[in-house]
Amino acid sequence: MGGTTPPNEARILIVGLGLIGGSLAAALRAAGFPGTPAEGSGPVEIIACDPDRSEIERGIEMGLIDSGDTRLTPLVEGATLIVLAVPVLAMRGVMAELAAALPPEALEGDSPRVAITDVGSTKAAVRDCALAAFGRLPAGLVLGHPIAGSEKSGVAAADPRLYVNHKVILTPAGETAPAAVARVKAMWCACGADVLQMDVDRHDQVLARTSHLPHLLAFSLVDTLARQDERLEIFRYAAGGFRDFTRIAGSDPVMWRDIFTANRDAVLASLDDFEAGLGRLRRAVEAGDGDAMLSIFDRASHARHYFDTLLNQTSYQAEYQMQEQGRLTFRAAPGGRVAGRIRVPGDKSISHRSIMLGALAEGITEVKGFLEGEDSLATLQAFREMGVAIEGPHQGRVIVHGVGMHGLKAPSGPLYVGNAGTAMRLFAGLLAGQAFDTELIGDASLTKRPMGRVADPLRLMGAKIDTAEGGRPPLKIHGGQALKGITYDMPMASAQVKSCLLLAGLYAEGETRVREPAPTRDHTERMLAGFGYEVQREGDTCWLRGGGKLTAAPIDVPSDISSATFFLVAAAITPGSNLVLEHVGINPTRIGVINILKLMGADLRLTNEREVGGEPVADLHIRYAPLKGIDIPVDQVPLAIDEFPALFIAAACANGTTRLRGAEELRVKESDRIQAMADGLATLGVEHTVREDGIDIVGSGKNSGKAKGASYGGGRIDSLGDHRIAMAFTVAALRAGAEIVIDDCANVATSFPGFTELARAVGLRVSEETQEVRA
Ligand code: S3P
Repeated sequence: MGGTTPPNEARILIVGLGLIGGSLAAALRAAGFPGTPAEGSGPVEIIACDPDRSEIERGIEMGLIDSGDTRLTPLVEGATLIVLAVPVLAMRGVMAELAAALPPEALEGDSPRVAITDVGSTKAAVRDCALAAFGRLPAGLVLGHPIAGSEKSGVAAADPRLYVNHKVILTPAGETAPAAVARVKAMWCACGADVLQMDVDRHDQVLARTSHLPHLLAFSLVDTLARQDERLEIFRYAAGGFRDFTRIAGSDPVMWRDIFTANRDAVLASLDDFEAGLGRLRRAVEAGDGDAMLSIFDRASHARHYFDTLLNQTSYQAEYQMQEQGRLTFRAAPGGRVAGRIRVPGDKSISHRSIMLGALAEGITEVKGFLEGEDSLATLQAFREMGVAIEGPHQGRVIVHGVGMHGLKAPSGPLYVGNAGTAMRLFAGLLAGQAFDTELIGDASLTKRPMGRVADPLRLMGAKIDTAEGGRPPLKIHGGQALKGITYDMPMASAQVKSCLLLAGLYAEGETRVREPAPTRDHTERMLAGFGYEVQREGDTCWLRGGGKLTAAPIDVPSDISSATFFLVAAAITPGSNLVLEHVGINPTRIGVINILKLMGADLRLTNEREVGGEPVADLHIRYAPLKGIDIPVDQVPLAIDEFPALFIAAACANGTTRLRGAEELRVKESDRIQAMADGLATLGVEHTVREDGIDIVGSGKNSGKAKGASYGGGRIDSLGDHRIAMAFTVAALRAGAEIVIDDCANVATSFPGFTELARAVGLRVSEETQEVRA
């Protein structure tokens, strides 16, 4: 089962032949155990101990075990792996008996002769039993917990598939021998389970919330209803909702009494949280507060869907998938041609801002074209955690029930924004003005990115913010500070810093003025104006006065020019290509890529130019034309800041050298994009020279001695988890002489969900591959 080899044990002794122990025996049998005895070992056996002789007999009859007994001591000799599948409260007696029956050295050393594991639902209590029985934690003891079960009990209900694709949590201690952990892991893997590890206390807290509390509620609900209706007549009318909610109330009462006794404190803590939540809901129902109800139900409904995606391994918050996560690789076959008419997903920058301003506005904001990518979804989720009711997203439609400038509520924990630098920096400003404390955390890549650029000027405004060393995340923002407006001269051209300060400025006394060294995207200013908030600009400085209010307004998010760029470059470099990209945002602060490609000689036309919701859009027509290398004008750099990974590929296919300067900001994006691209270009054999603030790329035009039509070779490239690096090298395959394999591509979903499908639809030959990564 699960394609794994059976564990290399001579004799497995299962203590307690109920549903869990019996299913383990059944699964091991199905996995081909007993198999061939290991060299020099005795006969391979599964044996069992159970106080109920009829369970043993049944187990033998069903072919699950070879033999068994009601007494433990006579069975211990010769057992190499002992699995304790008894109720938690029986564990103390069983451990004491084992301690007496086993010579102490059997459980010690780097490779203990005997390994013992258990299946108890709480771990601290079992650990205490072991300490009491053995006087220490033996090296061969590996406490564990298969997260699987059924409301049925007894060996007759044994199911060989009970553990398939279920998690088994092992909780080894410092004293535990890694060799013993490996053996227990091998046993569970043979049953088809996914094995992970955590420490005992965390296990007990997690299980109290995710398993013990729901069982408690199910028992309580059914008991309460049954008491009210002694003849149980009421259950005749109960339908699916009752059945779904209460299935687990049919579970083994003794086992659950033991679990609640053993995990008392963690269960009580989770019950307190639950009672508080129930109280909030009760008050909302009592007061007929529809918004509060909607907010609670909406958050719950999304959390439930999120849980489903976790089960399906397609979570949008990959970091929260505990220790196991599939690694996504793109394989892009060389060659192809690009043709068609497509619409790429919504603009990421505008999507973030639509939720932020919609949440702070008075009234209901309807958003169309919202980017359902991980980054903007992280922003959306964070507002839900601050009590904002948000419906959707559903096919790009989101409805935000604004709570007004002072209506956000303290979230119950840190706000996780994943990979999204924009979310973290804009949130920093917005949250600095709130009455409550918050903490902003992100994934491993975001945790390396500089936040001093926002924390420093916010401190000048009177904000209190703690960062980790070097101004890195997490950001701890202390609420309740009186902010005052400042005039700030930005040291770098950054729309995120500008937007952060403007959002803080909404809460500050007086005017907040930001001067930018070069024009940066102005979506915040445009959207604020669209929400009726006056923002002024003179030359390179924009400003607003704090204390106003936002009024909800509809938002139509154009397609993201940064996502369109990959297809613009794809068509620009590939002979025979002809592509139309519809409804693309062409805000003048974003069109660097159009200007640069035109300078390189691209055949690119804009049609159907119009304005939607304060942002200009157009359809972009692009056809292949030979490109030439250029010196990229420095004033175009901030206007194309996210487009350089793709533009580097255009440069590699152009005739002559392309030189980029003044782009040091690329070094602090989702990766150091100058170095990451240079490394990839080196793999493909593209000549280049890295500069501190840019790069020189020697394009090889067409047919330069490589395979026909190829500009460079293929190879394996590490995207470093940077979505734009991954997509740029996918596009590069159109002009490669061999396959390009790109690793670590899961983050493409942060900005461009569905990228590979769309790429295939227009003619790229790219496929996805997931490699399992196990803890
Ligand atoms: C963004 C601004 C830019 C850009 C980022 C989105 C925004 O970052 O790279 O992808 O939405 O404001 P900087 O402000 O750091 O240049």
